[in-house]
Amino acid sequence: MKKTIDEHAARFSAAAASYDDEQDSREYLACADLVVEHAAPGPEDVVVDLGTGTGAIALALAPAADRVLGRDISEGMLAEARAKAADAGIDNVAFGEGRFREPDVGPHRDSVDVVTTNFAMHHLSDAEKREAIAVIAELNPRRFVLGDVMFFGTPDPSEPFYNPEVDDPATVGALVDALTDEGFVLTAVERVHDQVGVLVAERFGDASERVSVTEESDATAADAE
Ligand SMILES: C[S@@+](CC[C@H](N)C(=O)[O-])C[C@H]1O[C@@H](n2cnc3c(N)ncnc32)[C@H](O)[C@@H]1O
Repeated sequence: MKKTIDEHAARFSAAAASYDDEQDSREYLACADLVVEHAAPGPEDVVVDLGTGTGAIALALAPAADRVLGRDISEGMLAEARAKAADAGIDNVAFGEGRFREPDVGPHRDSVDVVTTNFAMHHLSDAEKREAIAVIAELNPRRFVLGDVMFFGTPDPSEPFYNPEVDDPATVGALVDALTDEGFVLTAVERVHDQVGVLVAERFGDASERVSVTEESDATAADAE
């Protein structure tokens, strides 16, 4: 992480009032649309949106889901999200403090069906992204949709979406490895730009059967003893 959590939170809180007006790039909008489209929650599903910001993804998914929890580190961004939910009369979404590696979903911890994130995980280092993906896997969703700045080719700071001073995007390969190590199967890879994409990761079977590769190999080793 190139900045501390507090620095990122302060940076986004300072920009919160004008954040939505500035998200007009074709790539950001395409990425957000793809995250919403692939998340595709059902009417009984609980969705967790991490790095929810002003709620672009959470609010778009709420009408299709039973409940949406938006989590972020920036109180300013969360205040904007809450105001938008109130204005739109959306009452099945709850915005609160939570981090990728501590999403704090309270009583919903055993009932999360879909996890989403858009344009947020690239603030974490690759090691922190791995930790975050392990925490997301522990929530046991059947689907995790990760839209973000990610490198399909060689990192290029002169291209949009990657500012090395504040951003720490991963290669697509590193993200795929981290996801598959946690037992996810990649069911879609959407390249929006050479530095922006959406990965759709799913785990199959009943909730009790969805385990990480590490857990599975521990169990196999124990069986062999
Ligand atoms: C570029 S905004 C994206 C917001 C929203 N997902 C969207 O699509 O518009 C990134 C958000 O990630 C949040 N963020 C950064 N680091 C985070 C972390 N470790 N845990 C949770 N949220 C984080 C920031 O506060 C900010 O609101």
